[in-house]
Order: sequence, then structure tokens, then C-alpha cells
Amino acid sequence: MSDIFHITGPLLRLIDPETGHRLAMRALAAGLVPAGRAFSDDALGVSLWGIDFPNPIGTAAGFDKNAEAVDAALRLGFGFVEIGTVTPRPQPGNPKPRLFRLPEDQAVINRMGFNNEGLDVVLRRLARRRRRGIVGVNVGKNRDAEDALADYVTGVRAAAPLADFLVLNVSSPNTPGLRGLQRRSELSRLLEAALAARNETAEQPGRPPLLVKIAPDLSEDELKDIAVTCRETGIDGIIATNTTITRPEGLRGTDVGQDGGLSGQPLFELSTRILGDLYRLTEGKVPLIGVGGVSNGEQAYAKIRAGASLVQLYSAMVYHGPGLANRINRELASLLRRDGFSKISEAVGDAHR
Ligand SMILES: Cc1cc2nc3c(=O)[nH]c(=O)nc-3n(C[C@H](O)[C@H](O)[C@H](O)COP(=O)(O)O)c2cc1C
Repeated sequence: MSDIFHITGPLLRLIDPETGHRLAMRALAAGLVPAGRAFSDDALGVSLWGIDFPNPIGTAAGFDKNAEAVDAALRLGFGFVEIGTVTPRPQPGNPKPRLFRLPEDQAVINRMGFNNEGLDVVLRRLARRRRRGIVGVNVGKNRDAEDALADYVTGVRAAAPLADFLVLNVSSPNTPGLRGLQRRSELSRLLEAALAARNETAEQPGRPPLLVKIAPDLSEDELKDIAVTCRETGIDGIIATNTTITRPEGLRGTDVGQDGGLSGQPLFELSTRILGDLYRLTEGKVPLIGVGGVSNGEQAYAKIRAGASLVQLYSAMVYHGPGLANRINRELASLLRRDGFSKISEAVGDAHR
């Protein structure tokens, strides 16, 4: 194959992961990654929140924190992208090195700590593009924020006019105290404040749906609380899951001992279980986005059958390159046909029936 990732992929893996990712993003943004034709199939379309997604496979947050390669990612065949996490003010994130590949495990560990250019710069960049394709904005709080809620509200207000959907990230393990926002009383306050801010920004229709992204490291009780809180507040959807602070047995990568969140293959089972639990706990009434360890059509299909209406990925791009979205979509379309489904929505939650 003649695309640049296949030539440079092995080379990229010799240099440090963060530089590699930056180079890959630059190449993408500069149009140096020939995209070919995006695979398209009517069976893959998903209608959700009044938005028509051409296919259910999106990029997960962190892949393009600063909205530098949005159109390039869409050209690679992704049905949507999610930029961010963006914080109100720019911040450098944690000291390097903070990104580690575990190739033996097809996994990644990161402790980036929300390095990003801040709302002003990122949203200005987003505003400059022609609005085509579906783009979500994931917002978070600055590390030194005194009022976490105020940071989320600022993010929602600023991003709502430009976002097709909004995500509150309360599940990154690399910002101290962040995951505490998943506790019932705090989550409820946060969701209510963020929903009110979102509702002020636009008339319905035209209001971007507001989602919350959760961690995989939650007990059954904590998950129950989240499900109840999401139903009570009327949040539009849940993204499950972020990276895990656990280290499943059998990991072989030399960097397994690094602090941070683990993603990629070893996260697949855990995150799919949480997704399925959440589908059950919300009785299939809250739209879910499944993310964690997806690298092929079968795994994307498993997320959908567990309850996901849409699927995202990041880590597998590191190991499989830019043709991945098209490949997954092609495989997914044939799995749907094999099982007699004519569209994605028919397969959502099928594992529970
Ligand atoms: C390097 C890196 C940076 C990430 N940054 C963010 C982030 O800023 N915000 C967020 O919500 N998730 C972030 N994530 C988590 C991913 O969006 C995703 O939830 C997780 O990696 C699991 O998916 P995967 O196994 O396909 O990578 C990041 C993941 C990685 C690997």
C-alpha cells in the first residue's frame, strides 16, 4: 500500500511516542496522508439526537486535542470526530515522558494531564473551518481550577455554538480529583449546571447534545448511581469508557509500570462490560458511545451489541494506521448483514435480548 503511515509506521515507532503522534498529526493536517475513498454503506448510518452520522466509528478524545486535523480525520473515513479535552485556559500538561507504547500488548499508557491550547485558540481554529462533518468538543477543567464546575460551564458555553455534540470529561485519571466528580451528588450538580449552560446557548433545535464520559474503574454501586443521575438530569448520552488505572494480568510491555491510564487491547473487555452494565442500568434509554480497545469490525460490533449506538477509538490507530476506520466499517457492514440486520440501530443492545 502506498500510504505514508505504512512507510513511516515502523520508523515512527522507533521515535518517542509523543513526537511520533505529533508528526502523524502534522502529516494528517498537511494532507500528506492519502485517504482514498471513505467506505460508505447505508446500513452503517446512525440517526441520533437529530444528527445523521454516516457511520458509527469516530475518533476518541485525545487523538486531536487542539482541533488541528479535524477534516483530515473525517477524510480517513471516520463518521465523526471528538476534539479535546479542552480546558478554559491553555496548560502544558504533565512533564515528559508521559506517553508510552506497549506494543506486545497493543496498548498505550498515558499521563498527558490535559495538555492543550485552551478554549480561545482551539475554538477559533474550529470556527475557521467550513462546517462539514460531525465534530464533538470534549471539555474539562484546568488543573489549578478553584471551581471545577465553573470551568465546565465555561467550556460548555464557549463550545456549544460550534459543536455538534459536547462531552464533559470527568474520568481522566491524570488530573487530580477529576474522577471524584463522578460521585452522585457532585455529578448531579455538574450535569445540572452544564445542562443549564447548554440550554442558554441555543434554541431547540440546534442545541448540541450534552454527554458525560466515565471511567471503567467503577464499582457496580457507583455505576448504578451514575445511571440514576443521568436519567434524573436528562443528560443526552454517556461515553464509556476512558482509560483504566488498573493493570490487567499478563501485560508484557516494558513500560507496564508507568503511572497513567491504560488504553488499547487490554481495555476492551473491561470497558465493554461497563458499557453493557450501563445499557442494562439505563434500560437502553440513554444513548451510549462505546470506546476502549476497539481495533477491528468484530470489536466495534461487540460494543454495539453491548449497547453502543456509536463507537470510538484512539489507541488502535497507533498500531494499525490510517486505513483503520474504513476497514472497521467494511467489516461491520458485513457482520450486520451476516446477522440479518439492515441498520446499526437494530443491533444496538442485541446482546441483552
Ligand atoms: C494519549 C491519549 C490521550 C488521551 N486524552 C484524552 C483526553 O484528553 N480526554 C478524554 O476524554 N480522553 C482521552 N483519552 C482516552 C480516549 O479518548 C479513550 O477513551 C481511551 O483511550 C480508550 O480508547 P482506546 O482503547 O481506543 O484508545 C486519551 C487516550 C490516549 C491514549
